[in-house]
Amino acid sequence: MFNQLFKRKALDEMIKEGEEPEHQLKRALGAFDVTMLGVGAIIGAGIFATIGTAAAGDLSRPGAGPALIVSFIFTAVACGFAALCYAEFAAMVPISGSAYTYAYGTLGEVIAWIIGWDLIIEYAVGNVAVAISWANYFKTLVAGFGIIIPDWLSTDIRTAEKIPGLIANAPHIFGIPIVFNILAFGIVALITIVLVIGIRESSRMNTFMVLIKLAVLGFFIFVGVHYVKPANWTPFAPNGWAGIQAGAAIVFFAYIGFDAVSTVAEEVRNPKRDLPIGIIGSLIISTIIYILVAGIFTGIIPYKVLVQTLATSQAEPLTLALQYANIEKWGNLVVGIVAFGSVVAHTAVLLVFQLGQPRIFFSMARDGLLPQSFAKVHPKFRTPHVTTIFTGIAVGVTAMFTSIDEMVDLTNIGTLFAFILVCIGIVIMRKREPNRPRGFKTPWVPLIPILGVFSCMYLMLGLPWITWVRFGGWLVIGLVIYFLYGYHRSKLRTAQK
Ligand code: ALA
Repeated sequence: MFNQLFKRKALDEMIKEGEEPEHQLKRALGAFDVTMLGVGAIIGAGIFATIGTAAAGDLSRPGAGPALIVSFIFTAVACGFAALCYAEFAAMVPISGSAYTYAYGTLGEVIAWIIGWDLIIEYAVGNVAVAISWANYFKTLVAGFGIIIPDWLSTDIRTAEKIPGLIANAPHIFGIPIVFNILAFGIVALITIVLVIGIRESSRMNTFMVLIKLAVLGFFIFVGVHYVKPANWTPFAPNGWAGIQAGAAIVFFAYIGFDAVSTVAEEVRNPKRDLPIGIIGSLIISTIIYILVAGIFTGIIPYKVLVQTLATSQAEPLTLALQYANIEKWGNLVVGIVAFGSVVAHTAVLLVFQLGQPRIFFSMARDGLLPQSFAKVHPKFRTPHVTTIFTGIAVGVTAMFTSIDEMVDLTNIGTLFAFILVCIGIVIMRKREPNRPRGFKTPWVPLIPILGVFSCMYLMLGLPWITWVRFGGWLVIGLVIYFLYGYHRSKLRTAQK
């Protein structure tokens, strides 16, 4: 049984399957599109929302303070190691399952299943967090135009419990308060429709949104730099290295997404060349922007003020900094523009992750580990419509009822785990198949993958213990499902029997 569990799938077999007509997706994307998809996935809730907690800390962890910039640099380096490994795999096995597929070819079926299950945390759970954050910003944005969305229609019940009077003022049916986040559900539903209609349409919509968010962050940098007071950068690291590590573990969320590029591998015209460009290019662009934004953000708002403000309210960090700067001329407009950019940025992240998750399910179903209906391609749109709609419903409904805080930590631990396995996979593949053609080669193997493993582990250690418990629970549930379903239906193993 042990050997059966670790059965590996030949890489050539996987590539051939991706070319079968009934499973073929539309090859419509080039290097520019994939880089834009990467930036679309990367820049979102992380830079617009989580940097507040990373800089100020919360009850369970110390804040980085102005050393937030070091947290960003450290995390960028860790992600850089992982990105180089992803680039080699994506060019070598351009299959939409991403890390799941790579693990199937290197570490065996049960590990592949664990990664596939784990990627649900990165993509679907991550998107639940982004959808909730989107709803917060959207509400603030439309409030600026005088449109007030009631709290009971834009909050989950657990967050509502913390807000005085919210539950009492919500409508009740048979004594049960009606509180749910319809905004979060609504945006996921809209995006699902676009994704079913087509990859080219989705990619165009993404590129448009990416240009807006880059312009708005550029605008933040341009305006914000005038309000930086270098005195706010001292003390630089109020909580020492512990604060920097905890901050890095949070802002890791901001970098997640360069790997999502690999899920459109079957829709790229020249995957060997374009996927490495997309993965590494999008990470470099985002890193530069993050470092600038982090420096300006902590330069505008003093650490102590940030800590005090975030302890008593749920504020948007970048707009908070601009409000603090008290810009005399056009102040409200400046804040409004950044809030608008934030909504657009969140929407792009949602789009790419809602695009990635169904493609991973699609690959897993093609291998027999999930029901066959998940491997269906729409006859007209040639998108994996069944998994796209399934993901849309699952993410949308969960986002109606959950709170953002736990979702971010869980997403980070799950993604770091996937990165670690991808780094290990590169070392194994170099040993096992040194002569296989590689469109891109990770430099200095095994040094870079080993550094990737250690730096990702270090970030995992910066997360609260409760996150580890939740993550462990999730993996156990996944294994139970595997032994009840996938183990018996796996095409790879049933074909051999
Ligand atoms: N990196 C993505 C974001 O920050 C998940 O929203």
